[in-house]
Amino acid sequence: MHSLSILLLSLPFLPGHVLADTLQSVISAYSLTAASYNFSVPTTTLNSDDAAQWIVSKWDATGGKLDFGENDVVFSPDPASTSATVVRRQGGVTVPTSAASSTASIRASSSTSRSTSKSATGSATSPSSTNLSGQPPVLRVEYPQGSYSKKTGGTQFTSNLTTLAGGSAGGYEKMLLSYDVWFPAGYNFNLGGKLPGLRGGPDRFGCSGGNQTDGTGCFSTRLMWRQNGAGEVYAYIPSTTTLCSQGQTICNSDYGVSLGRGQFSFLTGQWQTIWLLVVLNEVGKSNGLIELWYNGVQALQFPQSALRTSSSITGITGLFFSTFFGGDDTTWASPTQQFSYYRNIQLFAGSGASTAAGPSTTTSSTGSKGGAGARMGGAGGWTAAAVLGSVGVLAVVGWGMI
Ligand SMILES: *[C@@H]1O[C@H](CO)[C@@H](O)[C@H](O)[C@H]1NC(C)=O
Ligand SMILES: *[C@@H]1O[C@H](CO)[C@@H](O)[C@H](O)[C@H]1NC(C)=O
Ligand SMILES: *[C@@H]1O[C@H](CO)[C@@H](O)[C@H](O)[C@H]1NC(C)=O
Ligand SMILES: *[C@@H]1O[C@H](CO)[C@@H](O)[C@H](O)[C@H]1NC(C)=O
Repeated sequence: MHSLSILLLSLPFLPGHVLADTLQSVISAYSLTAASYNFSVPTTTLNSDDAAQWIVSKWDATGGKLDFGENDVVFSPDPASTSATVVRRQGGVTVPTSAASSTASIRASSSTSRSTSKSATGSATSPSSTNLSGQPPVLRVEYPQGSYSKKTGGTQFTSNLTTLAGGSAGGYEKMLLSYDVWFPAGYNFNLGGKLPGLRGGPDRFGCSGGNQTDGTGCFSTRLMWRQNGAGEVYAYIPSTTTLCSQGQTICNSDYGVSLGRGQFSFLTGQWQTIWLLVVLNEVGKSNGLIELWYNGVQALQFPQSALRTSSSITGITGLFFSTFFGGDDTTWASPTQQFSYYRNIQLFAGSGASTAAGPSTTTSSTGSKGGAGARMGGAGGWTAAAVLGSVGVLAVVGWGMI
């Protein structure tokens, strides 16, 4: 196992040498074969009314509706095969480089741009093109200009894998989420935003939007992009002493725990593949696992995690599709109307919590969420970030994958 760590640690010094895994190798290594699920897509593009209906009926959004964002989802052509990827700027300012096609596309899309009225029967947004060029459509999520958190843009829903794949009600202790994400060329990441991940526990409503968790009702492990596309796992999990004393973690600087910020970065104008693995810890032990691969290369590995402190959390529920700008004030807002795209969403599940060694779980004293310097970007939050920069990539601390 040490040789693996040394190999990973030496990667930055071997330019051009990339250690890539395959999805199947990860599935096998962690025995994620108890259940799997593909999120099916329609055969045509769909406007937001129909797209929201698709998500509710085919992806089994928990509670029979999206948490928010019905008007911000459409199924649109794959941005890789169309000019639908242009960033539409308010006021007709264009960003993309391929001038001719983008101008046409912006003009075309202005007639289908977002309705400002949100009446019950309000008109829904539509994909900017309906020409699929023979490819399956992809999910497009809109962030209106000025939107941040507070259900003002983006979307959120949970798809419960135990229901989707006929598993046990308690859920699975191990789960891998795979999806591709695309940010259009010219995308303005601003300060950051949420991206889909996993969640668990009986509390359907907690573990997003503000309150730290004590590990008894729920947990969530979403991704975030930060400034310039810096990637991380953003977790609502207990801030345990073990986790918070590891490198690459930022605890108590925000509502969730920031894991591995900047160890990979999102790019624009291309599909990027995310695999997020979560293995529940044994109750009382910090031996859970949170790992992430970016384009098939392992980017984050947090082996001594505690996702729960109580047996009231029996498993991982499934997909927590949650994406929006923010952050909880206007500095996080999307500066323009922007979009992100998703395809190939898949879940793989296995049974059994981690049996790895790990220290017993002790919770560090959590900073008050509104305290001075506690907000992201506050003075306190960046101490750890500065350390992180000098720690180097993938300090794996001798923990083996297999
Ligand atoms: C998911 O899709 C892949 C690729 O199309 C296919 O090989 C696999 O069997 C599907 N899995 C399920 C559970 O439908
Ligand atoms: C659809 O797009 C393809 C190329 O992406 C183009 O060749 C074709 O003519 C388009 N079809 C229509 C009906 O516009
Ligand atoms: C997930 O589905 C199972 C089976 O229907 C159910 O028992 C469980 O309560 C659901 N979990 C959540 C968090 O909705
Ligand atoms: C967050 O905490 C406040 C007070 O501590 C409580 O009133 C509220 O219901 C909590 N919200 C969630 C989503 O748990």
